[in-house]
Amino acid sequence: MVAQRCRVRMLKLVGGLLLAGLLTHILSWYSTAGRRAHLQRRHFINDRGPVPGAELNNLFWAVQVTDLHVSKFLDPARVSEFEAFCNESLSVINPALVLATGDLTDAKTKDRLGSDQFEDEWKVYNSVLKKSGILKRAKWIDIRGNHDSFNIPDLRSMKNFYRKYSAWQKEGSFHYVHNTPFGNYSFICVDATLTPGPKRPYNFFGIIDKNQMHTLSRLAMESLYSNQTVWFGHYPTSTIVSASPGVRAVMSSAVAYMCGHLHTLGGIAPTLHSQHTQGTLELELGDWMKNRRYRIFAFDHNLFSFVDLVYNEWPAILITNPKSALYTNPAQEPTRRILHSTHIRILAFSTSPITSVHVKIDETDLGEASLSSGPLYTLKWNPDNYQTGIHKITVVVQDAKGRSQTRSHLFSLEDNISLSFSLIPSLILLTDHYILAQVLFFLLVLSQIILLIIFRYKRRPSLRGPQGFIGLTSFSVHVLCKTNLFYYSVLLLTIYTAVGPWFVGEIIDGHVGVCFAFGVIVGGNFTQGSLTYFVGITQMVFFNIPMMAYLCWCLLLRCKGHGFCSHIRHSRKIVCLPIYLFLIMVFAWQVYSCVFLALTYGTLAAFLSPMKLWLVVATVVMGRKVWRFSTPELRSYIIELKNCQSS
Ligand SMILES: *[C@@H]1O[C@H](CO)[C@@H](O)[C@H](O)[C@H]1NC(C)=O
Ligand SMILES: *[C@@H]1O[C@H](CO)[C@@H](O)[C@H](O)[C@H]1NC(C)=O
Ligand SMILES: *[C@@H]1O[C@H](CO)[C@@H](O)[C@H](O)[C@H]1NC(C)=O
Repeated sequence: MVAQRCRVRMLKLVGGLLLAGLLTHILSWYSTAGRRAHLQRRHFINDRGPVPGAELNNLFWAVQVTDLHVSKFLDPARVSEFEAFCNESLSVINPALVLATGDLTDAKTKDRLGSDQFEDEWKVYNSVLKKSGILKRAKWIDIRGNHDSFNIPDLRSMKNFYRKYSAWQKEGSFHYVHNTPFGNYSFICVDATLTPGPKRPYNFFGIIDKNQMHTLSRLAMESLYSNQTVWFGHYPTSTIVSASPGVRAVMSSAVAYMCGHLHTLGGIAPTLHSQHTQGTLELELGDWMKNRRYRIFAFDHNLFSFVDLVYNEWPAILITNPKSALYTNPAQEPTRRILHSTHIRILAFSTSPITSVHVKIDETDLGEASLSSGPLYTLKWNPDNYQTGIHKITVVVQDAKGRSQTRSHLFSLEDNISLSFSLIPSLILLTDHYILAQVLFFLLVLSQIILLIIFRYKRRPSLRGPQGFIGLTSFSVHVLCKTNLFYYSVLLLTIYTAVGPWFVGEIIDGHVGVCFAFGVIVGGNFTQGSLTYFVGITQMVFFNIPMMAYLCWCLLLRCKGHGFCSHIRHSRKIVCLPIYLFLIMVFAWQVYSCVFLALTYGTLAAFLSPMKLWLVVATVVMGRKVWRFSTPELRSYIIELKNCQSS
């Protein structure tokens, strides 16, 4: 007995250590995102390119804005401020091009649950672009997001207003080359939106299939002729289901990938930036919708830099030389040019004239940068003073209205120095969430099935001696598994959750589709599962498993000779109350999800939903049955339990 207990303890210890080891390993993989990229460093030893100096040359800048969500029901300021942004802010910044990375319109119904394309929203978006005249002043590249593809059966559909009202009007991935006298810069769009486009919510993940992957590889090849390449799209790579070799691998020659979609995760993650193992920076931008974010990015002598800003906070500052050490892609950027540069370079923008641009490195004031031309301010420096270690550059800009902003970052002129991104953004951006959810879902399903089968065929535990919590639990599971009605119901429910159709309904208006755990079929098209696995997990954790636990508990009470009324009268309230409260919550959630289904995919879907409405009915029936059924086995358990307790 003692030896056995000892062995169990050893096993627990070893298991715990292994788990801790694995966890540490995984966390350190994520937290060194960026450091690993430095293994890919190209030294550009023979780089004979120009170096940053005092003139406004070899430099251009652009703007990104994302998730506008123009809505006919909500927040008119979203549009009026966007118009002011186009008129005033973009006149000041004067970007060479603007990337609007998706979710141009909100496309949600008034109750915010349903989704549809509204021509009014698109007209508003279009008129802002036209009225502001921005299309004449800058190249405007606007692409579709998941909201812009809600409820679109195919791209030629009348409902695809993107085709009519956007500036760019091209669906699909494409390659745009920005030609300048000093070099060519590639912009490659990853269009992972779904076609046909289901209504929300099963439209959250993007997909890149084999053909699209092929196209992207071709575009990546083409871009090798350019000086630098930026990729952009709506979805972060972690929310794209992609064919081999994977969306991150195909963009490995890009200096950065810019996207939107996650907003700021409701404020949880105000900056979502990280770096792929191959070196590509992944830079999600917060939304315009609530947070009024936008981004200015620049290529200065082929060195990439960017800053994320909030609308109407002036002056805007972007330090292009020396660039940030953290946001360096060592595989693609000729960082040695910083070492050979003669001037610190700063882009400063404001609606009123800029009065001072003050520069500090570490704790030393270097003085005022002077206006070169346009928005470029430069200050002569001697990089040799900073050859080793990490340094901090701080720039303070003031304008005639007395407004002042400060910006600073770390830089390094050493090749072997690298900084790491924070853990949370890396976890969010570098994990393939749909794979994780898929594995977790099937593990849950599998472990429940195995548990049921084991208890079905295992010998019943002896009931002699006092029974602890574990003894009683295992006894109750045992009773459940030996009672055909409950055993087969629970088993069927679990298997059905994994393989059966959850509901049939108008996943796109006029197109009936079927939703499974592993994907959605609509319009003769199969969309691989992604969000469905998350829904599957919640179904298992918040319904299937609690219901099984409840059945077990009821069966145990039955074996003790209770009926429903007698158990309510005799059980201790402290045990009973939380259990029933929890049960009511679980049940209410299931009922709510029927309503949700009706609002998102129509009444038909709510009625033809084995996993929702039918399950609610079945649960009610089962809940009555468990207090009323009677079998010879049950009676024998009752007698046995009585004998045990009395002896
Ligand atoms: C861009 O590439 C061309 C050709 O390789 C080169 O001559 C030019 O200097 C590059 N531009 C910059 C800014 O480095
Ligand atoms: C840029 O591309 C054009 C063709 O589109 C080519 O003629 C030119 O040489 C390229 N410039 C550089 C610097 O690579
Ligand atoms: C980086 O390399 C230099 C020599 O090139 C060396 O002196 C220094 O210790 C290295 N630093 C790190 C952090 O490895």
